Amino acid sequence: MGYPIKRMRRLRRNENIRRMMRETALSVSDLIQPLFVVTGEGIKKEIDALPGNYHLSTDYLIEEVKMLHALGIPAVLLFGVRDKKGDSTSEAYDSNGLVQQTVRAIKDEVPDITVITDVCLCEHTPHGFCGFVKDGYVENDSTVQLLAKVALSHAQAGADIVAPAAMMDGQVQAIRTLLDEHEKTETIIMGYAVKYASKLYDPFRKHGTKSSETAVDKKTHQMDFANSDEAMREIALDIEEGADIVMVKPGMFYLDIVYRANQEFGVPLAVYNVSGEYAMVKSAAEMGRIDEKEVMMELLTSFKRAGANLIISYHAKDAAEVLNLQADKVSASQPIGVFPEGH
Ligand code: PBG
Ligand code: ZN
Repeated sequence: MGYPIKRMRRLRRNENIRRMMRETALSVSDLIQPLFVVTGEGIKKEIDALPGNYHLSTDYLIEEVKMLHALGIPAVLLFGVRDKKGDSTSEAYDSNGLVQQTVRAIKDEVPDITVITDVCLCEHTPHGFCGFVKDGYVENDSTVQLLAKVALSHAQAGADIVAPAAMMDGQVQAIRTLLDEHEKTETIIMGYAVKYASKLYDPFRKHGTKSSETAVDKKTHQMDFANSDEAMREIALDIEEGADIVMVKPGMFYLDIVYRANQEFGVPLAVYNVSGEYAMVKSAAEMGRIDEKEVMMELLTSFKRAGANLIISYHAKDAAEVLNLQADKVSASQPIGVFPEGH
């Protein structure tokens, strides 16, 4: 049966019908806001290339977390911004390090919000590589040992979820083992299982964490963006090693990977809408070429539609505001006890 009996447009007639037919619902509960903490006090400085996102000292960061919590955002992903004066890899697992202190402060002030920490070394190494470099190559096994110590220190500070980001082989297993040895059996691991070697991280590296002001090539550990089967093998390994949640990163150009991951594994799946993607949307909107809010909602919904359960995005706060307003509007247009004619 086809046209003229069948008319697809019947179900698109007005917003109320469209609302009933909608297959995917983006929710505030899906959103995770990345946050950047710096040392000091009273600092709130907008990040170049990530407008609307800030370098925050712990005091201001707590205020921001309270606001995110009030909006209904369930989790934040925390990054420490270090002064790169030299090798500070031992600070990475110091119980009084910047990230550890900030986690403790958040957990004291806003205990209900889920705190996720990025576990990597690029914020601490002078060159910005994600691990120890020997003869120009990032060493795997020694890096993994250190990553486990970093993750444990975050968990002991109160992090609910640790997210190993270095793309070292065996990193999830090493972290799970060390956490369990220290009775941190309840700490969740969100593995950056599929992390591509992408130029879309540049705004984050140059301005976000300032982990590398000059270009670093991470192709010996991050994935080749031409590959998809390999991504599924990475996910299988992370699950086997004990990851509770797996992540695909970046998001926008990798929806096929998100879709496949959800179809093939069906485990809790996060997608990272990275800095370069955010910067593209923001820049085009600032130039008046696209409508920021509309494009943002279209983009975030595409992640949900592809199969992601969680979306890490620099748009999270703005999107939560839009979603909360939409919810208010829908309930305001449905006054209780008033029925349409004919009932
Ligand atoms: C740390 C890390 C990076 C990002 C998240 N965690 C940078 C990198 O791998 O060099 C990128 C996030 C973004 O671009 O928004 N390894
Ligand atoms: Zn790194």
